[in-house]
Amino acid sequence: MSDKYQDFVSSPIGKILVKNLGLPNPTKLERYKAGDPLVQGTVLVGGRGRLAESLPGLLDVLGVASVTAQGDGEKYKGLVFDATGLASTEDLVDLQAFFTPVLRSLTSNARVVVIGTPPAQTEGGTRVAQRALEGFTRSLGKEIGKGGTVQLVYVAEGYEDSLLSTLGFLLSPKSAYVSGQVVRIGAHKEKHGADVADWTAPLTGKVAFVTGASRGIGEEIARTLHRDGATVVGLDVPQAADELQKVMKEIDGDWLTLDITAKDAPQRIAQHLKEKHGGVDIVVHNAGVTLDKKLANQTPERFGKVLQINLEAPERITAELLAQKVINANGRIIGVASIAGIAGNLGQTSYAASKAGVIGFVDSLADKLKDGITINAVAPGFIITAMTAAVPFATREVGQRLNAMSQGGLPIDVAETIAWYANPASSAVNGNVVRVCGQMMLGA
Ligand SMILES: NC(=O)c1ccc[n+]([C@@H]2O[C@H](COP(=O)([O-])OP(=O)(O)OC[C@H]3O[C@@H](n4cnc5c(N)ncnc54)[C@H](O)[C@@H]3O)[C@@H](O)[C@H]2O)c1
Repeated sequence: MSDKYQDFVSSPIGKILVKNLGLPNPTKLERYKAGDPLVQGTVLVGGRGRLAESLPGLLDVLGVASVTAQGDGEKYKGLVFDATGLASTEDLVDLQAFFTPVLRSLTSNARVVVIGTPPAQTEGGTRVAQRALEGFTRSLGKEIGKGGTVQLVYVAEGYEDSLLSTLGFLLSPKSAYVSGQVVRIGAHKEKHGADVADWTAPLTGKVAFVTGASRGIGEEIARTLHRDGATVVGLDVPQAADELQKVMKEIDGDWLTLDITAKDAPQRIAQHLKEKHGGVDIVVHNAGVTLDKKLANQTPERFGKVLQINLEAPERITAELLAQKVINANGRIIGVASIAGIAGNLGQTSYAASKAGVIGFVDSLADKLKDGITINAVAPGFIITAMTAAVPFATREVGQRLNAMSQGGLPIDVAETIAWYANPASSAVNGNVVRVCGQMMLGA
């Protein structure tokens, strides 16, 4: 599925119109291809704090070239700034001193990562300065342009060495449609991440269960987790059995057809995963529906059905898998929320309630899970799929352009974010809800 506006603005006549009429001009986003290095270019590391010294070593483990001083005429693919040493409002000028001279030396699709300390772990002037980083990074995300992204990563004290998988994701083209986000590492006193022997196949030996895997975002999640080495068990409704089997056969996976709202669904899923796979490492609750209607015209059946599929089924399945200890140690539970659950959307009271509920579900479990199991969610914005192709043209155009990248995202962008959560080194990434929305203006 292509973005026709983007195709048009890349044409000779389109380029002239964009320039003269000031129309949005989306940059073609780079995406990761299997076998590529994580970062194609050099990363400049700056700042002062508890991570500055270890950052070049961490980047080295990921195979990323880095320097600590700006060179004349050099171009950079990424910037990492350690802001954990900023302890007062006065110190915040360090941000301008580092970034202003280097911003014009960035290549297209550049990556900026600012690292801070969770404000709640600090006091007084440090707390003020650390909180200020959010406004700085979110604004720079709207300025950087040319497909660039900007994120803030709050790393709790003691979790300095749990940053690898997050740096690998945020500095690479895997995070093409993720910008203006705040990621929290070590927020719930998690275990430290497991070592990853092969960063091109970090999920080797893992079993991943993905609902709604026959098409759209779910299909791409299944393919991406398989690319990263996992054995995938895909689930979809019986009506989608043919499509599901086709996808799963292509990725040497296994499948299960049932309606996740069926009374016995949690038990059947648990039994299948236990008996055929000896347990599961990654559970992705992707299946979801919209049955839009303004609340004044809503029926109890439609309202209830959306809540059952999008929220109640993930809750019941997770509870059963945890109760039967089907989820292995260092396991991952991943929800799919939506920007609608954050900003609200006309005609979507049921959908937005269900998706905000997914965020509540993450919050409710993040502190309680044991054995290194984590729970996180993605909140996609406008992702180009069969679901959004059905949206009327004008609404679709507005949805696609109202973000810092002036374009819709692709299913792969959601899938890559899920693969980062799933990484065995992401054990300290817990309780996060990261938006995959190109820094959408709504609910930002
Ligand atoms: N496309 C977007 O822009 C977007 C934005 C935000 C969030 N999301 C969320 O991403 C997820 C995937 O969306 P998509 O665009 O790929 O949708 P899609 O309609 O293409 O795919 C959803 C899949 O879920 C399956 N499913 C639905 N009800 C089920 C049930 N009761 N039991 C088992 N499987 C069931 C469907 O058969 C389908 O294969 C959904 O949770 C959706 O809410 C999508």
